[in-house]
Amino acid sequence: MADLSSSVLVAPAARIGGEIAVPGDKSISHRIAILCSIARGESVVHGFLRCEDCLHTLRAMAALGARAHFDADDLLRIEGNGGRLLQPAGPMDLGNSGTGLRLLAGLLAGHPLDVTLTGDESLRSRPMRRVAEPLERMGAQVVLTGERGAAPVRIVGGRLRGISYDLPIASAQVKSAILLAGLFAEGVTTVREPAPTRDHTERLLGALGLGIQIEGDRISVNGAGLEAPRWHGAEWRIPGDFSAAAFWFAAAAARPGTEVTIRGVGLNPRRTAFLDVLRRMGAEVEVERDLVCEVWEPAGRVTVRGRGLRGVEVGGAEIPNLIDEIPVLAAIAALAEGETRIRDAAELRVKESDRIAAMAENLRRVGVEVETTEDGLTVRGPAALRPSDALQSYGDHRIAMAMAVLALHGSAPCAIHNCACIATSYPTFFQDLELLTR
Ligand code: S3P
Repeated sequence: MADLSSSVLVAPAARIGGEIAVPGDKSISHRIAILCSIARGESVVHGFLRCEDCLHTLRAMAALGARAHFDADDLLRIEGNGGRLLQPAGPMDLGNSGTGLRLLAGLLAGHPLDVTLTGDESLRSRPMRRVAEPLERMGAQVVLTGERGAAPVRIVGGRLRGISYDLPIASAQVKSAILLAGLFAEGVTTVREPAPTRDHTERLLGALGLGIQIEGDRISVNGAGLEAPRWHGAEWRIPGDFSAAAFWFAAAAARPGTEVTIRGVGLNPRRTAFLDVLRRMGAEVEVERDLVCEVWEPAGRVTVRGRGLRGVEVGGAEIPNLIDEIPVLAAIAALAEGETRIRDAAELRVKESDRIAAMAENLRRVGVEVETTEDGLTVRGPAALRPSDALQSYGDHRIAMAMAVLALHGSAPCAIHNCACIATSYPTFFQDLELLTR
């Protein structure tokens, strides 16, 4: 197994193929960690993603008074505190996790506590005004004590009023933060999205019976004020992470004659636009939905068969539904015939790294022709990949994994530096890579 703390040498794969299950969904694991921690009584969670990001959220909830442990069967058991959050002893560190920090900001806004949320250097460079602004309108005091509107974020929470808010950017994190705050506000809170984003929070609040209403692009929750709505612990099954599976779909799609199947993977339609793009590029994609998880979050089995790929145009409303897959899409675009143009994706510049710049620099290192714009990039394929010993993760898990997938298709090994970040979302990435390439 590759040592994630060091540079990793990824060799070209003689073969790619097989069937695996990927670890649980990251977005859903964060939401489960938060909402089960404020439920009454015990929740039992199957498939919680044991990655650094989600463990940070779980630890933060423990600092606020919940208790959680993994039992002998590897199930996560969370003893909720019924919504009575405790004042933590000091600042809460969310590591690399933007989702953890922004969602917790929303939760804390409606509680009479004074809490500082912080994280690693990457997280402390990411924009937080987008979440501070609506929470302040609701009545919380949110102080961005970092540079240029970044974390540490100090939240002095308390009595909130419901608001009606048009999101200026399509962000599921900001939407979720407002909805979580809305649960503890007086009156109704409504959020309007400029384009549909992942709806895991809405689905989970619906499954908890918390009276969420969705009309077109408007999502509303009824707040219960400081007397928060109360829900009970339950049993949850988290499907496999589509964004983790996407690396293997991409690996197979780019090599004619190969076939990869991922079972039990989440198929929330707000997450799977990458499959549509792979089809447009020429890959064969077969989706078979499971019957379990049908109500809460759809899941199923996806098989991708590689064919000769062609370049595509990607932009507009599909971007939020494949935002995390764009690094690996840019990687395999290097192997497609013709130009792949990705636009309307300026949000990539404020992810764990500037993903437009990071992918362009790495692709150039292996001989790929790339042009960048403020909101995307154009990749010209097919490239004759040349090996590089200088690929960089830029501390960003998805950049490291995207370049590892591309290296499988090269002619000689490539070195990717600083791969420790992969553990933030997919600690078993290299084990799964071995399973699918041996
Ligand atoms: C996420 C939302 C997206 C996504 C991130 C996870 C979530 O971020 O990129 O990986 O779980 O809500 P934005 O809300 O910043 O678009």
